[in-house]
Amino acid sequence: MPDDLIIREADRTVAKSAPLVDPFARAISYLRVSVTDRCDFRCVYCMSEDMTFLPKAEILTLEEIERLCGAFVDLGVRKLRLTGGEPLARRNIMSLVRGLGRHLSTGHLDELTLTTNGSQLARYAQELRDAGMRRINVSLDTLDPEKFTAITRWGKLDKVLDGIEAAKAAGLAIKINAVALKDINIDELDGMVAWCGERGFDMTIIEVMPMGDVGEQRTDQYYPLSMVRAQLARRWTLDESDHRTGGPARYVTVRETGARLGFITPMTHNFCESCNRVRLTCTGMLYMCLGQEDAADLRAPLRQSSDDGALRDAIRDAIARKPKGHDFVIDRRRQAISVPRHMSVTGG
Ligand code: GTP
Ligand code: 5AD
Ligand code: SF4
Repeated sequence: MPDDLIIREADRTVAKSAPLVDPFARAISYLRVSVTDRCDFRCVYCMSEDMTFLPKAEILTLEEIERLCGAFVDLGVRKLRLTGGEPLARRNIMSLVRGLGRHLSTGHLDELTLTTNGSQLARYAQELRDAGMRRINVSLDTLDPEKFTAITRWGKLDKVLDGIEAAKAAGLAIKINAVALKDINIDELDGMVAWCGERGFDMTIIEVMPMGDVGEQRTDQYYPLSMVRAQLARRWTLDESDHRTGGPARYVTVRETGARLGFITPMTHNFCESCNRVRLTCTGMLYMCLGQEDAADLRAPLRQSSDDGALRDAIRDAIARKPKGHDFVIDRRRQAISVPRHMSVTGG
């Protein structure tokens, strides 16, 4: 091995010997990476109709994102999730996925995965599987084509369903993410549980979070999952499960279908005490909490030197500032938006 490679490997070993732990003794092992803030949909709970996106000049190259992810892996991150906007809308995204897949082969990473709106899945499913992905999450809030277009403003349900089929055929395990939306899809969730059960898909239902101005009142969208769960329990037997993915969902098994059903309840039940993740944006900002504004710039130390020392220091400093949790509030008296940035900046 050449000298510089030996030094780099030794350096990595040192980095690994002190994993990332935040001030509340939570180990940080999960990095979510937003590779673009752009998307081919405009979901009503995520974006306004006339979004302004980041100037292209500010966006990190895919090589830079790969290096940043490598630094986190060196510091003990075991799970990487690509998000967006829509991650598969970024040009050449597969070169990044293949690059990151190498950490799976070396055993330094347990999971490389993706949260997608499914619109480009038909094209990419097989390549994702070939690069080492085993499981993906697809956002799908309704099975009704007209409602689908109403929710996503620009999306076509057929295309997404074709994408999901392609992912299944490629051997990817699938989790469907449905945001519970008052007066829009609550009455459909029961049918979606059946649909997922028939296909062997896990499903999570998510409470809407007050992130960014989407041009609608959050009180008109928000529906607590305690009520969804009570409604579903009339038709399905929901057996408690200790299944965990490293994400925030609490799961039950639907006895009649055998499928898993998860509830993500940032509004009614805070799961921050077990938070294990941080979020990187496509400009290199690291958000230590989805529900807070504080972020650390990693682009400057990344570009400062080809050695990762400054970058690793910046990551450690950022983790030392990770807050205890979010302060999301949705109520009629305070119509203010809890967090001004849109969900598409960090991809959830
Ligand atoms: P799994 O690995 O399958 O458990 O994925 P995940 O649930 O971590 O990720 P996914 O991208 O599918 O996110 C589902 C929902 O959970 C999205 O609405 C995210 O915004 C939300 N979510 C994920 N992590 C957090 C978190 O730390 N805090 C809050 N409030 N919401 C989160
Ligand atoms: N509240 C809750 N979930 C949201 N998502 C996007 N915006 C919001 C919001 N305001 C979901 C998407 C996707 C995941 C990454 O986040 O539907 O499944
Ligand atoms: Fe795009 Fe996902 Fe936001 Fe919908 S929720 S607009 S698919 S980033």
